[in-house]
Amino acid sequence: MIKNRKIGFIGAGNMAQAMIKALVDSKSVDAGNLFATNRSPGKLKKVEELYGVHPLATNEDLVDTCEIIVVAVKPQDLAPVLEPIASSFHQGHLVISVAAGFSTESLQRLIPNAGGIARAMPNTPATIRKAVVGYCLAENSSAYQGTVEDFLKPLGIVVPADEGDQFVALTVSCGSGTGFVFEIMQYWQEWVEEHGFDPETARKMVVQTFLGAAELAAAAESTSIQELQDRVVSKKGVTFAGLQSMRELEVERALRYSFEKAALRDQEISRGTAKQ
Ligand SMILES: NC(=O)c1ccc[n+]([C@@H]2O[C@H](COP(=O)([O-])OP(=O)(O)OC[C@H]3O[C@@H](n4cnc5c(N)ncnc54)[C@H](OP(=O)(O)O)[C@@H]3O)[C@@H](O)[C@H]2O)c1
Repeated sequence: MIKNRKIGFIGAGNMAQAMIKALVDSKSVDAGNLFATNRSPGKLKKVEELYGVHPLATNEDLVDTCEIIVVAVKPQDLAPVLEPIASSFHQGHLVISVAAGFSTESLQRLIPNAGGIARAMPNTPATIRKAVVGYCLAENSSAYQGTVEDFLKPLGIVVPADEGDQFVALTVSCGSGTGFVFEIMQYWQEWVEEHGFDPETARKMVVQTFLGAAELAAAAESTSIQELQDRVVSKKGVTFAGLQSMRELEVERALRYSFEKAALRDQEISRGTAKQ
């Protein structure tokens, strides 16, 4: 149970705010048990005003105050943040890092005294508790699995992943995936607008189409996505013509290629952070 645990966020940016909102909305924690630090004061004030999170002056204070520490700074800031406070960690601490490309092994090297270390990859729908959150545990941290899952569950669905190819695939398909879906939604909206709909109506049409398709797929769990698609397509009909063109233009290849590029970038970042 995490209800009565003191949880601290190092960094109160986009991802931390999405996580804090989900935790508070789900009532799985008491806002009185949430603490945060941030480099600049504005975001700290915001999380205090919106969610009742207690601001703390230094990262050291945060580690001294909390049992669960969520590190939510950019990957390039992670080592400079943890190095000076490494000696403040002890066996009672569980550290959950959301930094992309930063392995549990690198984290263990930075903060060897922490009791448990986990790496999590949420996506921004965490704000509305609809995230896909992947996680993996550092070696010798398996005792923390229940706590890590309890902490992540309010954000959406929780998926354990091996730290390697699986974690990269999860980062690309779900973490970056939200960004890819938004890219496609923009092309969709532009096309609708070109056909005389005002931007507001076009946006609603596109959002509802994605939402409707996703919710239909979620509701029909035992039906494959291919089967759901087949129900929209009649031979030589309108959808059939569009799909045929998509296949001729090799949309699948373009997407696969883009996923692979993103995966390579993730590995590049990992190699860079591993050197730190
Ligand atoms: N955004 C996503 O969709 C997403 C998804 C999955 C994982 N992540 C991961 O989440 C992490 C944070 O990303 P983000 O999008 O939330 O970035 P962000 O909005 O820039 O938040 C990072 C925060 O860390 C603060 N910070 C930097 N140095 C600090 C220090 N020494 N002490 C305390 N706070 C410090 C920054 O303060 P300032 O106010 O001074 O900038 C900033 O508010 C990244 O590692 C990213 O890989 C993000």
